[in-house]
Amino acid sequence: MPPPESYELRRGKYAKLDAPADGDDFDTPTRRSFDSNASSYEDLDEFDPLNYDAGTLKQKRSTGDLRARKASFRDAEFAEKVQVKRRWAPSRLCCFLVLLFVAATVLLLSAGGIWAWKSAPKDGLSPPWYPTPKGGTDEKWKESYRKAAELVKQMTLVEKVNITTGTGWSMEMCVGNTSPVPRLKFPSLCLQDGPLGLRFADNITAFPAGITVGATWNKDLMYKRGRAHGKEARLKGINVLLGPAMGPLGRMPAGGRTWEGFGPDPVLQGIAAAQTIKGIQDEGVMATAKHYLLNEQEHFRQAWEWGPPNAISSNIDDRTTHEIYAWPFAESVRAGVASIMCSYNQVNNSYACQNSKLLNGILKDELGFQGFVQSDWLAQRSGVASSLAGLDMTMPGDGLKWADGKSLWGAQLTKAVLNGSIPMERLNDMATRVVAAWYQVGQDDTEKWPLQPPDGDGGPNFSSWTDEEIGLLHPGSTDKTTGVVNKFINVQGEGDDFHGNLVRQVAAEGTVLVKNDDNLLPLVRNGWKEEEKVGKVTKYRVGVFGEDSRVNQDGINACKDRGCNVGTLASGWGSGAVDYPYLTEPLWALRQAFNNESVYVVDFPSNKLPKDKTLIEEQDICIVFANADAGEGYMSFETTHGDRNDLYLQKGSDMLVKGVAKSCGAGHGKVIVVIHTVGPVILENWIDEPTVKAVLIANLPGQESGNSLVDVLFGHINPSGRLPYTIAKKEDDYGPGSKILYYPNGLVPQQNFSEGLYIDYRYFDKKDIAPRYEFGYGLSYTTFHLTSLLVTSHGPKTPLPAPRPSGIEPPTYSTDIPDPKTALFPPGFRKLSKYIYPYLSSTDGIKHPEIQTNMLQSPLSEAGGAQGGNPDLYSKILTVSASVTNIGLVDGDCVVQLYIAFPQNYKDPETGQPVDFPVRVLRGFEKVHVEAGKQGPVPGVKGSPHGGGGNSKMVVFEVTRKDLSYWDVRRQNWVMPTEGEFGIQVGFSSRNLPLQDKW
Ligand code: BGC
Repeated sequence: MPPPESYELRRGKYAKLDAPADGDDFDTPTRRSFDSNASSYEDLDEFDPLNYDAGTLKQKRSTGDLRARKASFRDAEFAEKVQVKRRWAPSRLCCFLVLLFVAATVLLLSAGGIWAWKSAPKDGLSPPWYPTPKGGTDEKWKESYRKAAELVKQMTLVEKVNITTGTGWSMEMCVGNTSPVPRLKFPSLCLQDGPLGLRFADNITAFPAGITVGATWNKDLMYKRGRAHGKEARLKGINVLLGPAMGPLGRMPAGGRTWEGFGPDPVLQGIAAAQTIKGIQDEGVMATAKHYLLNEQEHFRQAWEWGPPNAISSNIDDRTTHEIYAWPFAESVRAGVASIMCSYNQVNNSYACQNSKLLNGILKDELGFQGFVQSDWLAQRSGVASSLAGLDMTMPGDGLKWADGKSLWGAQLTKAVLNGSIPMERLNDMATRVVAAWYQVGQDDTEKWPLQPPDGDGGPNFSSWTDEEIGLLHPGSTDKTTGVVNKFINVQGEGDDFHGNLVRQVAAEGTVLVKNDDNLLPLVRNGWKEEEKVGKVTKYRVGVFGEDSRVNQDGINACKDRGCNVGTLASGWGSGAVDYPYLTEPLWALRQAFNNESVYVVDFPSNKLPKDKTLIEEQDICIVFANADAGEGYMSFETTHGDRNDLYLQKGSDMLVKGVAKSCGAGHGKVIVVIHTVGPVILENWIDEPTVKAVLIANLPGQESGNSLVDVLFGHINPSGRLPYTIAKKEDDYGPGSKILYYPNGLVPQQNFSEGLYIDYRYFDKKDIAPRYEFGYGLSYTTFHLTSLLVTSHGPKTPLPAPRPSGIEPPTYSTDIPDPKTALFPPGFRKLSKYIYPYLSSTDGIKHPEIQTNMLQSPLSEAGGAQGGNPDLYSKILTVSASVTNIGLVDGDCVVQLYIAFPQNYKDPETGQPVDFPVRVLRGFEKVHVEAGKQGPVPGVKGSPHGGGGNSKMVVFEVTRKDLSYWDVRRQNWVMPTEGEFGIQVGFSSRNLPLQDKW
């Protein structure tokens, strides 16, 4: 078949941006000949390549358009061509029909006819909360606010507007940029993705994704990764890093972006987020906790992106919001995060970036957030309303459409303040929050943050829009001015500080060994283990299978924003992905690791089974690589439109594993399965095959993929990763609430979070469903034993925290509205097309308001009073300790987990109403290194090997009031049950809790 029109393009720089059309055969890779003996690709069986996708083609959206919109400036032409090709592909035709159907539905719905049965309630369902609490109420930010107020007091109206509004998509060097106030030496801020590295930048590190970091359960590594990421950002001149991500939290295992965060438990997510934030901010870079809130799926996340004119509404109750989804944001605020990004979706039928209950109420009042709220890119859907609801910065600055240059703020914000629609007080607070956050992380230090031109050479030293040294200074406009835009500064660290080493460690610790029958692992370099050697004269034969074992043959960065699943998977796709500086290939690393004197490695890096079965049969061990990919909704790969279509392995991997398992070693072989994945995958198609001895969930390892894997396979690092999610036996086991809404169910797609608190392991526990591998599970090459549980109480149970402390006084300003003429474009000002300015062209129609009306104050939350909430919520109520002993033969790291079971059959003593609690909830974890003992067996411990000894370490957990409280909707506070008993459970996973006590 002749190559399709865009064949050449696919092989170019952005190859695989698009999926191959059905029947395309362009992707036959040329096999690298590592091994003369192995079969060539031509020998491979025709394993039906199209049969691997169990999912049906989901609703089709105008992804071509989306690419063009989000694709960087330099890709626009290519995106256009992709669109042309798409139109003629058979599957696209089907998609076109679906689109037509959607369009017709939308038309009918907009006609307000009989179809409008499930649209949004007219006034939404989210309670109002006004006015926006002012920043500057927390002692820890006192000095920053003092300095910020001093600066903001000197700013004119347009200068204040300038620092709250982005300059427009691709107008400056970063994905988001604000304008400076040169007169006061306040810089233009550069905002850049995050969260696993620096997007669109050179000489940087591709760290493991959030989900891998979550799987380490290692607080120290979480901090170190944040710190290294922060350092790279600072050295590239990035002021605000767009990460960490903690929303999506992972309600839906197939959610396209859950891999950016740390796993679907609020405590694990919260601790990992806080550690990351501390790391980033200790380097002087502002971290961004994103996406606030409930952006749990990609389908319909934005207006128009998927067809419907409105974004999806996540409908949720107050208790679940607090106990599950807002929890990690509370931890982020407690850690002092400088910025929070509000999300695209609606929450209870009010857009997250103009939802006053979420922003003013929960975030700024109850959680005491002192930094600034920025919008996700185009998540701002109104001008005045969003400001009044608590938004402080709009990104990238454009209006309702991508790169339209018609900001809802900029000049409109200037106007809204001049005519009294937005109180001056609000604008002052918006600007002060931005400046205070800048001071808070120390960016006024000109040693570390040199002044920007013309006063110095500070600012971003890279361009998101070109790889050339010289490039356009404002590529989003028609302006043709050029300058040096890339200085190619290497920020990857050197020597002991080389960040690749950290990546390797995180990736290895984030690899979860879930099966290791007969102790097949660790492997040995020479192949045969001592006990197996006897009588063996031949070389040890290792077969490596699966496309995921080697890198994309078109180049590791062939697909823009990693938007394809080709070759080994080390990151999901979207704005949260970066260009790999290098990617250690698993196959290469395996070849390095085995001794080729005694081991014979053959590779079949394809998902097709070799035609000649003996090639599988003659192996002693078979290592099969498989994967599952997903990403952000502006890109699709084949039929995966952001969210996954199901939880199975992709690209025929299940069939591959099954086939290899059947034939490996002619039935006597041993199979190791390595899975790179964005989230939970169903393993049932082959997990019980007797030859499948070992399974590793390697998550998304980043640039050190191969090396980190070999570290674990060969035992250089004893596996200590634990699952940050549940692996079910079947998708339905996650419950009805876990399903992506793939088709719109109204003009405003509605998604009810009716399962409330019961997501992931909480659902499995409630319904008593046996998972394949539970949350928190993972194996080691040694064995640990837990003893000596001790629960110490620091006082009696009392229902409520101490009264809310009042905090300090925020700065005050003159609220005088200036003469509108001061907001006019300065004479002779050279405007760039589509660039966003705060200035007005004319003052016509602007009426000076007679009086500024004061809004009624919503009641302040008793749960508030400091960063993260009422400080008493974090008072220590219990100390729990236990001793962990290594009773095996090798040193290892053990993750000890603390779960709390709230009193069962509990009734609120005041109302007599029953309060439902999950069976147990994670409340703490500690990873400890315990050396194997040398002095003989542990007395009385079954399974303790002779000579195993038993070194022990103590683990200690501090349990806070909040840990022991639930969110009482009636009292609008955290309430600790004072009747009944709490279960205190300590162990190795959510279902292996050998130590139990009551309190
Ligand atoms: C994503 C954000 C990202 C932003 C800037 C948006 O589409 O949702 O996570 O930070 O783009 O790239």
